[in-house]
Amino acid sequence: MALIRAFRRSPMDFLDVLVTSGASTIPLWMGPERVLLVDEATQVWELLTTHARRTGKGRGLVRARLLLGEGLLTSEGDTHRRHRRALQPAFHPQRIADYLCHFHRAAGRAAARWSDGGDVDLVAEVSAMTLDGAGSALFGSDLRQPAPQITRALTNLLAGFRLAMAPAGPTLLRSQLPVAIRVRSAKAELENVVDDLIRGRWAGEPPPGPVQDLLASQPELTDKQVRDEVMTLLLAGHETTAMALTWTLAAIDQAPAVRTELEAEWDAQPEGPPTGDLAGALPLTMAVLAETLRLWPPSWMFSRRVVEPVVLGGRPVQAGTMCLVSPALLHRDPRWWPEPEQFRPDRWLRRVPGERERFDPKLPGQPRGAYIPFGAGPRMCIGEQFAWSEAATMLAELGRSWRLRVQDAPLTAGPSSMTLRPNGPVRAMTALRVS
Ligand code: HEM
Repeated sequence: MALIRAFRRSPMDFLDVLVTSGASTIPLWMGPERVLLVDEATQVWELLTTHARRTGKGRGLVRARLLLGEGLLTSEGDTHRRHRRALQPAFHPQRIADYLCHFHRAAGRAAARWSDGGDVDLVAEVSAMTLDGAGSALFGSDLRQPAPQITRALTNLLAGFRLAMAPAGPTLLRSQLPVAIRVRSAKAELENVVDDLIRGRWAGEPPPGPVQDLLASQPELTDKQVRDEVMTLLLAGHETTAMALTWTLAAIDQAPAVRTELEAEWDAQPEGPPTGDLAGALPLTMAVLAETLRLWPPSWMFSRRVVEPVVLGGRPVQAGTMCLVSPALLHRDPRWWPEPEQFRPDRWLRRVPGERERFDPKLPGQPRGAYIPFGAGPRMCIGEQFAWSEAATMLAELGRSWRLRVQDAPLTAGPSSMTLRPNGPVRAMTALRVS
């Protein structure tokens, strides 16, 4: 019970209780579930890669099927492999390079709504912006008009995730509880948006985006499968990146020296979207993002159910065990991270005298499995490069003209959800930079 109460309070409370209960040594019972916390980097890597075929998705994503259907995130086995292969071309590096102009334009459109000294709800602003970016890049659609409807429905759907995780989740979701009614109506609302997206664009002008093209070229997919994939990409594709940007903007506001260096980097960029490789063009921006994803990973925990017995670090783990993996814990573990609590983007920067500074994701030298904001193995995030490119392009474009002064920083995490969300709305002041 203590664990479930801590889960409702916040991810950090939940992880604290999990660690102090010794769940990494002896599996715990959480309701009917035998739960093991895998908190050793090498074992995390083994679980997600070597043992991938001996594991399935854990309770969180199995229950998320009730809300998201069976898209890439929640499907398993052959269906997952086929759909992943079908969608992979939309995330090819050449495609990502083509998307940069969409990300750049979406940031420009968001900032066009701001005024000097204005007050905005940061989460709503960045969510609308990443929805706009993902909508135009992946689906060739302008989602600015339905954005408030989508964001509201998503917030209600995330509340449904907490309900779905409860022991009687599926029954509760079908009940007449007000929260259950709100979740069902949010789901129906999102399905309508997705259907419009598929129908409206498929049939006519302007030409459909890469995702509809790829799905249309798979005749064996049912209408429901197409809808589930579009829904998954729409939600997975903007919510996590929006949270990454929110935590990043708050972290920058708390680190004036880093902000000064960032502004110099942004001011030195030519007009328009970045070109070429972002690690070289925007090294500090990428380092700031990497450090934010370390300290506040939007996917703060995921899990694997062991379907065939495995050995992890020499210890047998029996079938049926639910293994929890938490980037939020691993990324602050002093075994791998010096000054783990400090926001230090410089740990990601290769500075060689006489050479251009570069962002190097391998630089901190930690073992594989100690830094996994996008997961690892065959279920690793399909949108990783999309997310880096979108977030870096948007930060650079916004930061050339605007400073965001985040009220109530440093932010703290709110109640546990699928993503690491700040507690309540985040107010920010938009200040025009004087160059
Ligand atoms: C900062 C942004 C993002 C973060 C932190 C993130 C994180 C993750 C993580 C940790 C997983 C693996 C979960 C597991 O192993 O159980 C995942 C999977 C996934 N992500 Fe992301 N993601 C981000 C952005 C995106 C974007 C932009 C898209 C699409 C446009 C996307 C689509 C997906 C999909 C479809 C999966 C399931 C992949 C599969 O199982 O084959 N994500 N993401």
